[in-house]
Amino acid sequence: MTTQVINEAQRRATADIFNSAVASWAISAAWELGALDELNQHGKLDAEEFAAANDLHPASTVGMLVALASVRAVERQGNLFVVGENFAEVFRTKSFFHWLSRGCSDLFTDMPDVLRNEKRVGDYYRRDAPAISFACRDINAMCFDPAFWTAMEGLDFTFTRVADMGCGSGERLRQIAQRYPGTRGLGLDIAANSLEVARADTEKAGLGDRIAFVTADVRSMEPRPDFADVDLLTCFMMGHDFWPRDNCVATLRRLRDLFPNVKRFLLGDATRTSDIAPTEVPVFTLGFELGHDMMGVYLPTMDEWDGVFPDGGWRCVRKHLITSLTASVVFELERLP
Ligand SMILES: C[S@@+](CC[C@H](N)C(=O)[O-])C[C@H]1O[C@@H](n2cnc3c(N)ncnc32)[C@H](O)[C@@H]1O
Repeated sequence: MTTQVINEAQRRATADIFNSAVASWAISAAWELGALDELNQHGKLDAEEFAAANDLHPASTVGMLVALASVRAVERQGNLFVVGENFAEVFRTKSFFHWLSRGCSDLFTDMPDVLRNEKRVGDYYRRDAPAISFACRDINAMCFDPAFWTAMEGLDFTFTRVADMGCGSGERLRQIAQRYPGTRGLGLDIAANSLEVARADTEKAGLGDRIAFVTADVRSMEPRPDFADVDLLTCFMMGHDFWPRDNCVATLRRLRDLFPNVKRFLLGDATRTSDIAPTEVPVFTLGFELGHDMMGVYLPTMDEWDGVFPDGGWRCVRKHLITSLTASVVFELERLP
């Protein structure tokens, strides 16, 4: 039994842990409900007016904002909440909180069961694929897009058809179609419910005739006639699903065969960190790594990625390190002859 005498600092630190957990749900909800955007735009938000304007329960709306105040994202002045010292960083990283508390809530809630070997059979965990796709749109905009568009602008050929593997919301394909009017897109994803949302958003954007979506496990999909036209491949935040190494080599080779006319493959992902003290881990990394451990998904390190391409039949021609997300990268790959 521990005999440590508990002092005020430890009491406060422990209360902060609890409050941060509640605040994490509140950040994600405040983003989805539009409160974070309103705070970002106006620097303040009247809880009563916001609840009335959005048909929200008034007391819970105040409670959500108080939870934000507990982590200094806002400051409370009666019914008025103004941006606090941590607002800018919370706003920047809001999609990580959404990924955790909306996309992966069941996985983390079920942690005791998910850790028991006897329970790790069949579909032993649940996540919300459409919610993860929603969060990933913002994670892309914040982290991967600058390197992605730099790579796109540097392409030394004119592409006409792009296939995005693990396309999620389909946002990347819509953006490509909007920037490059003569092109068509093909989105492949294992989650049929995410693709329903992707299709609806694509129709709404008036791009339904240029972008198609197909439900497929990209690690084991069969050839399709439209694969032959694809000259550009993209894959963001799902490359880790190719691993462990032998499987990754096989998938990279398979993709090379399935898309015989691809000239460039842009592959972006977060990789496993190895040397960060637990108390120094930056936002997202802890949840990302523990979440994938619980799902039994192997997360490769940057070095492991670097070493796999030649065996998989690809050559890395450029590597963009992502500074806004720990140990993250966009690889520009070309087929080996
Ligand atoms: C983290 S999300 C990223 C979504 C999107 N690429 C983006 O950048 O916003 C990962 C996506 O990969 C999909 N996925 C995971 N494993 C897959 C597989 N084996 N085949 C196809 N899609 C897969 C998931 O359903 C999910 O939509």
